[in-house]
Amino acid sequence: MRAGHTVRVVMTPEATRLIAPATFEALTGNPVTVDVFDEPVRGQIAHIRLAQESDLVLIAPATAHTLARLALGLADDMLTTLALATRAPILIAPAMNPAMWTHPATQAHVQTLQARGVEFIDPTYGIMACGDEGWGKIADTPVIVQAVQNRLNRSETLNGVRILITAGPTYEPIDPVRFVGNRSSGKMGYAVAHAARERGAQVVLVSGPSALHPPAGVQVIKVQTAQQMYEAVSEQFDACDVFIATAAVADYRPECMLPYKRKRRASKWTLKLVPNPDILGTMAQRRTHQLLVGFAAETDKVLENAQYKLRTKDLDLLALNDVLEPGSGFEVDTNRLTLLYADGRVQPLPQMSKLECARHLMDAIESLLQRSEGSSES
Ligand code: PMT
Repeated sequence: MRAGHTVRVVMTPEATRLIAPATFEALTGNPVTVDVFDEPVRGQIAHIRLAQESDLVLIAPATAHTLARLALGLADDMLTTLALATRAPILIAPAMNPAMWTHPATQAHVQTLQARGVEFIDPTYGIMACGDEGWGKIADTPVIVQAVQNRLNRSETLNGVRILITAGPTYEPIDPVRFVGNRSSGKMGYAVAHAARERGAQVVLVSGPSALHPPAGVQVIKVQTAQQMYEAVSEQFDACDVFIATAAVADYRPECMLPYKRKRRASKWTLKLVPNPDILGTMAQRRTHQLLVGFAAETDKVLENAQYKLRTKDLDLLALNDVLEPGSGFEVDTNRLTLLYADGRVQPLPQMSKLECARHLMDAIESLLQRSEGSSES
């Protein structure tokens, strides 16, 4: 309200056992709705009116039960009915016991909601009301307020821009049951696709094997091997404006795939590997107008190696991550990126969620696109 917004509060019946609706009515100057049949404005169906008039729906604090109901699309009270009826962006700040937050059921519901475009303000670490300590404490109020402001200020700045993204690992078959692969989960690449889509870009995601749900509104092409990824990217490349290579592509594959499962023997087994195509490097040579963005997964001499990749692959931008650093790189939900630009600028970012990293990457891409537009006009 201090930022000048009109705030209307909807409460679940359970929430009214903790705080009386009259408190929010006094604070906001607006009626509080709890029951689906409440009709604060006579003749107007409250959940539809609120759904259509709201610029943003913030659910804070959200319990595990509410997350489950939202993920299933239930509409059994005013809050869930409103969430189903609205086309406004939905932001959720969960708060619950750490065991409940990390439970696979809750995390699956979070993934389902994220895939539909719902955004989360992650809970923090702390001591809960029950005395347990861990992740599950609701984010601090200034963090929630800032997330709301950021979401309201964000517009479809990449509308009409066609972005091609690779994500995940590639699997290079040895025989029908074994493969050469790596630890990439696809989290970083899917987050990049999500961040591009939420700014209105037309996104094609070429994904290696991953258990993740792709973000809503994104065209997905599933592949297994580096060769298949190369062919899919090759086919899509001419029609794209930006190519972002987030995938951890296997640089080598077994020279030939055995047609049967190799049996265990006492003797040594030497596997002969041959190089795979360098997808990003090849596209760089084929580019006409495309902006090229690479990732570098480094373990030593990180800056030096990344700068070498930026130069030799002829990229506009490269996101470096040190994959040995705790909370960065493969499989985890967070990352710490350093952005390297072709003009020599180096922009280190703090550790944050992969989605927030992806949003920073989009900011950088947007500014590069604006520059190239500016230079082609002058
Ligand atoms: O999927 P997650 O678990 O979330 O992990 C994220 C990540 C660590 C995989 C991601 O952040 C990352 O670093 N991706 C790039 C991994 C990689 O293969 O880096 P590289 O330094 O080996 O390759 C440099 C660039 O060339 C990359 O953009 C890569 O996609 C591209 N490449 C590499 C080899 C090849 N044959 N073709 C390519 O296009």
